[in-house]
Amino acid sequence: MKLIKVLLVSLILLTGKGLFAGEGMWIPQLLQQLNEKEMQAMGMQITADDIYSLNHSSMKDAVMLFGRGCTSEVISREGLLLTNHHCGFSAIQKHSSVEHDYLKDGFWAMNKKEELPNPGLTATVMIKMENVTRAVLNGVNPEMTEAQRSQKIKENTAKLVKDFEATNQYQAVIKSFFKGNQYYMIVTQTFKDIRLVGAPPSAIGKFGGDTDNWMWPRHTGDFSLFRIYVDRNGNPAPYSKDNVPYQPKYYFPISLKGVNTGDFTFVFGYPARTNEYLPSYAVEQIINKENPDRISIRQIRLNLFKKYADKDQKVRIMYASKQAHVANAWKKMIGQNLGVKRVHGIEKKQAFEKQFENWTNSTPELQKKYAGLLPAFKTTYNDLAPYNHAYNFLREAGMGMELTAFASRFIRLIDLSQSENRDDVAMQKAVKSLKMYLPVFFKDYYKPLDKEVMAALLKKYDQDVDFPFKPDFFNRIHSRYKNNYIAFTDAVFKKSILDDRDKLETFLANYQAKDIKKLAKDPAIQMARDFVDLQKNVISAKRNSLRFKNDSLMRLYMAAQMEMQKDKRFYPDANFTLRVSYGKAAGYEPADAVEYKAFSTMKGIMEKENPAIYDYAVPEKLKEIYRTRDFGRYADKDGSMHVCFVARNHTSGGNSGSPVFNGKGELIGVNFDRDWEGTMSDFVYDPSICRNISLDIRYFLLIVDKLAGAGYLLDEMKLVED
Ligand code: ARG
Ligand code: GLU
Repeated sequence: MKLIKVLLVSLILLTGKGLFAGEGMWIPQLLQQLNEKEMQAMGMQITADDIYSLNHSSMKDAVMLFGRGCTSEVISREGLLLTNHHCGFSAIQKHSSVEHDYLKDGFWAMNKKEELPNPGLTATVMIKMENVTRAVLNGVNPEMTEAQRSQKIKENTAKLVKDFEATNQYQAVIKSFFKGNQYYMIVTQTFKDIRLVGAPPSAIGKFGGDTDNWMWPRHTGDFSLFRIYVDRNGNPAPYSKDNVPYQPKYYFPISLKGVNTGDFTFVFGYPARTNEYLPSYAVEQIINKENPDRISIRQIRLNLFKKYADKDQKVRIMYASKQAHVANAWKKMIGQNLGVKRVHGIEKKQAFEKQFENWTNSTPELQKKYAGLLPAFKTTYNDLAPYNHAYNFLREAGMGMELTAFASRFIRLIDLSQSENRDDVAMQKAVKSLKMYLPVFFKDYYKPLDKEVMAALLKKYDQDVDFPFKPDFFNRIHSRYKNNYIAFTDAVFKKSILDDRDKLETFLANYQAKDIKKLAKDPAIQMARDFVDLQKNVISAKRNSLRFKNDSLMRLYMAAQMEMQKDKRFYPDANFTLRVSYGKAAGYEPADAVEYKAFSTMKGIMEKENPAIYDYAVPEKLKEIYRTRDFGRYADKDGSMHVCFVARNHTSGGNSGSPVFNGKGELIGVNFDRDWEGTMSDFVYDPSICRNISLDIRYFLLIVDKLAGAGYLLDEMKLVED
């Protein structure tokens, strides 16, 4: 027994789970039980009940999921909703044209009439969450097979949701926590009339661009502003000109006091996916195989994007969004690999697994329950490796060729047209949705670039992947084209009609089932078909069954870790549910002899300014504000104008736009990124270098007030001087 205690203590030290570490994304409902004391000891002056309560309005009422992938917060009595510029990006882009380039110049509604509706954009608030583990697992027993078990859970879940929604105005979903060991029902309300109120020019909202992305020190004013509208009864409703601004139950007061090194901060938002409890085999595979594969494929695309963008301004604009998308994960993965290596993440996992083995061997019952786990993981991850490799190539390279990705959209139409008992309505619907997609695709499509990408990716695919994980058309590349990828690509583009918008439009305009022959033999569609078949027949069936097996091993491993470390507080991996992270504002040491501060100032914007580099252009008006030091009450007490800050909050993708608070629960910032050295926190958190990056709320106020001249918006907010 004693030995076990000693082991446990050393484990806790080993994994760095001490107090005040900053690790963890906690369930709001459980803060009181698990975190409140620690948060208060660190400097929080409010209570867990102020953050999440079912009995009165609380902070959770003002945190919203923004669209599908970001977080946002309500900051005024008339429903102003604050999020990141990169979260509002596509809405801003949709309203932009050559005459009104809101991306470039920014957009500001000078009154409510000028606010712009965004059909399809939603904001979702969590009403409550409830542990429903018992009801979800009702009827599940240890004798069941995994398939039976998951079938039963599916039935129970569907019934619980249906019963809830039958008697309720709200929506419900049930989500798994701790790898299927617990289940919560999440009850939500979704607002559907979300209007654009303001966005700074990209030279502020995306200052530093991809060069600075994932990096500290940062100087980005990454925010955009929206407003929630509801019907006259205060209920969510689709856009209508009769809708009125939402009067929230709660909105966040905004602190003008700023944040200093060592101050307590917390983040409230929607992290999407983390994997902190994986066995070493999994992390090893991600870091040593999957990330390098994906990085190298993306590198090829990015090099070619750059080659064309440097030559042609038009192409640079066309590919701006694609480029940002490809580069974002590419850069994150490179950071993850460096980070895991730096903190010896895999070795730490292996050391933990040694302890775990000792523990499972300590009693016969434990041995019976858990001893087979790690060897089983080892086998399944080994088995998975070739399938993951193939899957990554298929997704990243196969579908990284824009023409094949586009072509894969036609497969459904072909199948519908060729079906024995043809459903003409479904077929025409497929035609219509393709027709609607054409302008979207061709607006940002540059054929010479995609051609070069195709030849390069085919070559990469051919070199790195073996049959049977290569689509059949590679046989033709080998035999007929003697491995000349460029010649093959030329032939595809020459024969295909998919790269020609006019031909395609005419073709779809008069589409009849018999026209299918032409499509079916289109070489781009044949490539797409080969990829899709490969995925379905060769990769996914086996890969999914192995992943399914891993899921059930992981459920057991998670339970075992919790049983072994009885005194440890566990937080569930991120699963796109509302979480609270907390930690102190702190700089860090990115490398030997280098020390970073916890905040950046406008001085840094001027230092980075370089009109020759697109990412580092500074708007004239911002320069003037700096020159005249027209910071008003938004300046720090040190006289400088703060722009961003870093803190030890454990965040992930999805936390973009999340509100960041001081100890009083007042808004001090908006989360928008993590430091590059710390992006491995999705697998291995390390308090010495993992930081979240936030916009200082005072910089947001400065831009709205002094740069945009939209200070009228501040009247509906609650600004707190101290
Ligand atoms: N890295 C941040 C995130 O993962 C910001 C991405 C947008 N900014 C950019 N320069 N691409 O979403
Ligand atoms: N920028 C990320 C997002 O959009 C947040 C950064 C992170 O991954 O922590 O969610």
